[in-house]
Amino acid sequence: MSNHSAEPSVVRAEDVRVDLGTGPILRGIDLQVPRGQALALLGANGSGKTTLVKALIGLTPLASGRVELFGTDVSARRSVPWPRIGYVPQRVSSSPSMSATAEEVVASGLLTNRRLRPGPGSRRQVRDALAEMGLAERARDSVHLFSGGQQQRVLIARALIRQPDLLVIDEPLSGIDQASKTALAASLRRLHRAGTTIIVVLHELAELRPLIGRAVTLAQGQVVQDGPPPVHQPAEPGHHHPDALPGTVFNGYPVHGPGGRR
Ligand SMILES: Nc1ncnc2c1ncn2[C@@H]1O[C@H](COP(=O)(O)OP(=O)(O)OP(=O)(O)O)[C@@H](O)[C@H]1O
Ligand SMILES: [Mg+2]
Repeated sequence: MSNHSAEPSVVRAEDVRVDLGTGPILRGIDLQVPRGQALALLGANGSGKTTLVKALIGLTPLASGRVELFGTDVSARRSVPWPRIGYVPQRVSSSPSMSATAEEVVASGLLTNRRLRPGPGSRRQVRDALAEMGLAERARDSVHLFSGGQQQRVLIARALIRQPDLLVIDEPLSGIDQASKTALAASLRRLHRAGTTIIVVLHELAELRPLIGRAVTLAQGQVVQDGPPPVHQPAEPGHHHPDALPGTVFNGYPVHGPGGRR
């Protein structure tokens, strides 16, 4: 019999507040993510999704509140357990001075505090990771020559090759082609089966729907929904499923007029 209460959550955020610029961006965020969960973070543009995932892994300072990762307080950003985390940021920016090849970038995902150079067998792992993202032919090419979507796929390969305990991935489906989406979904399923906890920022569950066990929706810096993934698309006032009938309620919002949106 397993005793879940004895096992700390992978992520535990308590009353997190983040201020950026002139005001609060996140307020009163409480979030616990148990080990092995695949959680989607949903919400409109500007609702705070990127800010939240960065706050959870110590990349954005908290104004108040507390974040624990694997049972360790990381609010002070000193003790973020980077070797256990794979992170793919939302926007990829490679400068022309970044002349590293795709295989060098992916291999850097294997480095940890204890392992400062890739170990035996790593070359094969790197090749496999690139092939998985459809970039086998480009291994020796410099990433600054890649398209935006290709660069994003290199960074995904770098995060996946770590086989992290926690994978945080910000809008991986935006800007990559259909074949890459399908490949990514398969790779995430494999990691999930191996026990990785996944937090993925999305606008639509789409290809990742079968993986997702929990959906948390943000609006204006606060959690407004938390539970099993929605059957239809995430709630946004005024946006209805095209098939929703006038007079009914869809995603908690009344449907007006013919054809849904008004
Ligand atoms: N460095 C910053 N300084 C000031 N305001 C910021 C900063 N970064 C983000 N914001 C503001 O915080 C809010 C949330 O931004 P965030 O990037 O977290 O949203 P998001 O939900 O990830 O949006 P998107 O779907 O467009 O990626 C926005 O209003 C944004 O303008
Ligand atoms: Mg974002």
